Amino acid sequence: MCGIVGYVGPQDARDVVLEGLRRLEYRGYDSAGIAVVADGALSSAKKAGKLANLEKVLAERPLPAATIGIGHTRWATHGGPTDRNAHPHLSADGSVAVIHNGIIENFAVLRAECEKDGIEFTSETDTEVAAHLLARAYDAAPEGEGRLADAMRTVCRRLEGAFTLVATAAAEPDTLVAARRSSPLVVGIGDGEYFLGSDVAAFIAHTREARELGQDQVVEIDRHRGLTVTDFAGAEVEPTAYTVDWDAAAAEKGGYDWFMLKEIAEQPQAIADTLLGRLGVRGELVLDEVRLSDQELRDIDKIFVVACGTAYHAGLIAKYAIEHWTRIPVEVEVASEFRYRDPVLDRSTLVVVISQSGETMDTLMALRHAKDQNARVLAICNANGSTIPRESDAVLYTHAGPEVAVASTKGFLTQLVACYLVGLFLAQIRGVKYEDEVSAIVADLRRLPEAVAQVLAGMEPVRELARSLADANTILFLGRHVGFPVALEGALKLKELAYIHAEGFAAGELKHGPIAVIDQGTPVIVIVPSPRSRESVHGKVVSNIQEVRARGARTIVIAEEGDEDVVPYADHLIRIPRTPTLLAPVVTTIPLQVLACEIADTRGLDVDQPRNLAKSVTVE
Ligand code: G6P
Repeated sequence: MCGIVGYVGPQDARDVVLEGLRRLEYRGYDSAGIAVVADGALSSAKKAGKLANLEKVLAERPLPAATIGIGHTRWATHGGPTDRNAHPHLSADGSVAVIHNGIIENFAVLRAECEKDGIEFTSETDTEVAAHLLARAYDAAPEGEGRLADAMRTVCRRLEGAFTLVATAAAEPDTLVAARRSSPLVVGIGDGEYFLGSDVAAFIAHTREARELGQDQVVEIDRHRGLTVTDFAGAEVEPTAYTVDWDAAAAEKGGYDWFMLKEIAEQPQAIADTLLGRLGVRGELVLDEVRLSDQELRDIDKIFVVACGTAYHAGLIAKYAIEHWTRIPVEVEVASEFRYRDPVLDRSTLVVVISQSGETMDTLMALRHAKDQNARVLAICNANGSTIPRESDAVLYTHAGPEVAVASTKGFLTQLVACYLVGLFLAQIRGVKYEDEVSAIVADLRRLPEAVAQVLAGMEPVRELARSLADANTILFLGRHVGFPVALEGALKLKELAYIHAEGFAAGELKHGPIAVIDQGTPVIVIVPSPRSRESVHGKVVSNIQEVRARGARTIVIAEEGDEDVVPYADHLIRIPRTPTLLAPVVTTIPLQVLACEIADTRGLDVDQPRNLAKSVTVE
């Protein structure tokens, strides 16, 4: 969702800001804008649609060269994606410009107040109110150093909801001010220059030195005096420094047509990086960064896994593994429902929140609810320095590198691997598995990068198959046991990318309803468990394939090498290497990613930025 960029320094701010916006495009947006301060005045340009539209406007009517600028990509909430609603928003007197991510919940009251004072609004956004309030507070603040930051604090104290705000003032060509509450913002520190970004992708081409901003903090960046961070009351606080371990090249397409293709291809390495340093020489788990003590981990009697979208599917799979290995009951829930249901939580509950971006608002709110109820929170996260790990008791980073495509691929597989690590670690600490059992599973984990590489090498027939499915109206996905969440994930990927109606079902539920929608030629993709899986799950799925085929379905079967039982009933057969049952989702998901990507591409769609979606959903 909304991307935010700010720059002050010796370079041409117009170029730095536009480049930053380009790097944040992946977050999802529907309009864009930029403002600079030059010669004591603010100049801005904004346009609905993609960045190319804004660039066209700038080519026709260039902004003046400047050393300070702010830029924004907007994902519409209050008011449609129009030119007028695009950010930046300038105050009525043109003294300040503001960009915003989040939702100002009390904007109606504040807008009425401004209108009573005679201010005419030019947009339907909640953001514009912040621009007018800021101008008023700036006017009232004492002149001199820190005036804009002072005004920002005054405004923030009046705002309800979630927001990141960045502001510049016409009279302050060296000062950028930003504030954050429950929305993302990071600061990059270069050599005599400073950057602001919704995430580090905005500035990793320039610097890897970063500062995290905490909740309810205001940062003032003065080109000469440097950085000052305060809380909303004005008390100074020390920001946390960190070094970004992603490099700029990792956030480029590197010769692939789509970021998603690149990220699919990176999965063997990403999984290896998730495992790196966490598997000991004796086959034990070493998770030093899980800051909960052994006793705390032994005391856990219930686990909730809470997440959204694809990360939620990782949680559904985690339940099978963690319950089986630890015998601790695990519940999995979508984050947007969790806190409204009044879940039973206490000190011995472990809440595992999974989030690639670390900024998903629903997940963040679930985390805060869990902490309010005294539960311990462990985050599985990819983005360093993001809000969710910062607010959690413990964190396991997935180290997958930047994920740019909206549809999560390497993010998902590495979340799965991290969940396996958590489950095994708990089993090890609590002594519910013999050491040799743990080390046998660890050996299986070590083989995953190789297995994933093997699947990727055999994807050409899947791409061919995808092209033949591009005109389908409906595609169904079936699975049992861990194959069921994989079916859900396969269907989600197809919906997200190809805009085709798709649903995932537990294969056993087929006969209770879904089978009615199967018609002549309906494609049904079946994830078949290993023939070595427990209690004839495999045999039951083979029966399900026969049932759908008997009703006219075109069957696409994903099955282990050597599984001959499926051959007579598969119109298309996709082979995956032999993998232990609980770890199989790491390999069975890959053909589904490739299928969705290729179908979307064949349909001429934007694979990396599907319509209506955002990579990082920072509103509830
Ligand atoms: C958005 C994205 C999904 C993602 C979900 C959770 O909806 O489009 O791809 O799975 O958010 O994101 P997170 O960053 O919390 O894993």
